[in-house]
Amino acid sequence: MCGIVGYVGSKQAYPIIIDGLKKLEYRGYDSAGVALWSANKINVFKKEGKVAALEEFVKNQDVTSTVGIGHTRWATHGEPSDRNAHPHYSKSENIAMIHNGIIENYASLKTELIKKGYEFKSDTDSEVLVNFIEDIKLNNNCTLEEAVRIALKRVTGAYVILLIDKDLPDTIIAARKGSPLVIGIGDHEHFLGSDASPMLAYTKEVVYINDYELAIVKPDELILKNLGNERVTPFVQKLDLDLAAIEKGGYDHFMLKEIFEQPQTIYDSFRGRLDVEHNTIALSGLDSIKDKLMAARRIIIVACGTSWHAGLLAEYIIEELCRVNVEVEYASEFRYRNPIITSEDVIIAISQSGETADTLVALENAKKQGATIFGLVNVVGSSIARISDAGAYTHAGPEIGVASTKAFTAQLAVLQLFALKLAKLKNTISEDRYVHLLHELNAVPEKVQWILENELENIKAIAIKYRDANDFLYLGRGYNFPIALEGALKLKEISYIHAEGYPAAEMKHGPIALVDSTLPVVFIATKDSYHEKIVSNMQEIKARKGRLIAVASAGDTITLELAEDTMIVPAADEIIAPLLSVIPMQLLAYYIGIERDLDVDKPRNLAKSVTVE
Ligand code: F6R
Repeated sequence: MCGIVGYVGSKQAYPIIIDGLKKLEYRGYDSAGVALWSANKINVFKKEGKVAALEEFVKNQDVTSTVGIGHTRWATHGEPSDRNAHPHYSKSENIAMIHNGIIENYASLKTELIKKGYEFKSDTDSEVLVNFIEDIKLNNNCTLEEAVRIALKRVTGAYVILLIDKDLPDTIIAARKGSPLVIGIGDHEHFLGSDASPMLAYTKEVVYINDYELAIVKPDELILKNLGNERVTPFVQKLDLDLAAIEKGGYDHFMLKEIFEQPQTIYDSFRGRLDVEHNTIALSGLDSIKDKLMAARRIIIVACGTSWHAGLLAEYIIEELCRVNVEVEYASEFRYRNPIITSEDVIIAISQSGETADTLVALENAKKQGATIFGLVNVVGSSIARISDAGAYTHAGPEIGVASTKAFTAQLAVLQLFALKLAKLKNTISEDRYVHLLHELNAVPEKVQWILENELENIKAIAIKYRDANDFLYLGRGYNFPIALEGALKLKEISYIHAEGYPAAEMKHGPIALVDSTLPVVFIATKDSYHEKIVSNMQEIKARKGRLIAVASAGDTITLELAEDTMIVPAADEIIAPLLSVIPMQLLAYYIGIERDLDVDKPRNLAKSVTVE
């Protein structure tokens, strides 16, 4: 969480930083700030609220500077407020710092500094760190770089920090451990960011900084060192991204744009992989760990949130098609609960951002115990992609809306390919079923397009009808159960309406007590082998006067008659259908959020990339 931006060069830093912060706002948006270097002082401007509030606040101030750092915050230590916003000054106000991450031992460092007479203006761990660094600098009479190195050896936790020093012209010092940092190389200038989006308009040449590396960044020079003060050669990579991909392109919100991109992004996930002419699937990442996978007695899927829902569906599909045991784990539990992991285990890590702290640490732990990691990641070059032994990118393009949509369907699309390819290798699927499913997958982009073209107005009307509900229940069975969970999560995030996802039959064991004539109950009821059973569950809700809303397959008259409102999706094989049934769930959440006049791209309290545990 938190977005960081830096610029050093000959252009004016402020507009570049503000523009960069807007691109990184998905990482947190409860306050924002900038620090700008000038010959005799560092000016810090910061404000509670979104980047727009900072811009308003800074209007008419002198922001002339060619070196600066900026931050958009997702609060960890200390409530969102002006004083807790970054950058933080050191005591002398000679140094300003921004920080993304958590300093776990900040309390003991703070006590040490208080004994020395330091006072703190904020409640943040970050202000402690900048003062700790300055204290070391003054006591050791050393450079800022040296002081940062010494300080970081004492710090536990995660960080990306950027610092500027009044006495250090044209320089940003940066360091990372556990949070992302990218440095863009321009023409006599450098850009720094939590991801590459702030620098895309200026350069495609970037260096991803590794943990325990420290960068000294000047207009014409990028020096990388490890914490032992040894030089590290920067590995320059060329970005394959264009600016249009991170802009709204005429849509009101990123979320809507990303929902509408799905026919293309699902197609992109298949491109070069799914070949229905020759009935083959190319997944080089799977090939590279083929022996491990064939020998594995189980596959463990590790993820959080929406990515975990993709993992749950993958469990159902891989077990069905590949006849191998699959366990799905919440990364935050898995990393702490001392699980039994051996070198025979293959772990599939699913992450849009590739930076989720819990997932990353869970993988590091599993790797130490000899497991093989397959990373299914959207952001190219992200931390999870880099620590994986093998993997596949989802190719959904940048996802800016905080609620995940196109990344989820891209994850499902690649997981479907993974399951089918593995089943073929293991000979656990008949040729007919394999070919049938390949063709069914190939038809998904067109079917998603059909939903977007034909169901939009209907879903908008349903959103208007139910926008004032206090609670929602989402029910599904089998392959549609993860979609019930995902539908409920989307609604909670975007509309702030309480929603629960449940296995449809399990509702009899408790949630049915909630059902009355005011409760909307969404059934994900596409035609599958459980259909008769879910029809019975719908009857049970109807008998108790619940408001029945259903996602149904085209041509399913039984569901159409039963439900008060229906969202139609094209018929598809039951394994493939979740890729379709999730689309109405995304649209329903989006339009209810719009009807309730909420900021659907930046829901309260959330951040896109959860880099704290
Ligand atoms: C929900 C959502 C989150 C993420 C979760 C994991 O819409 O976006 O639940 O899925 O924070 O993030 P990644 O996939 O980046 O690891």
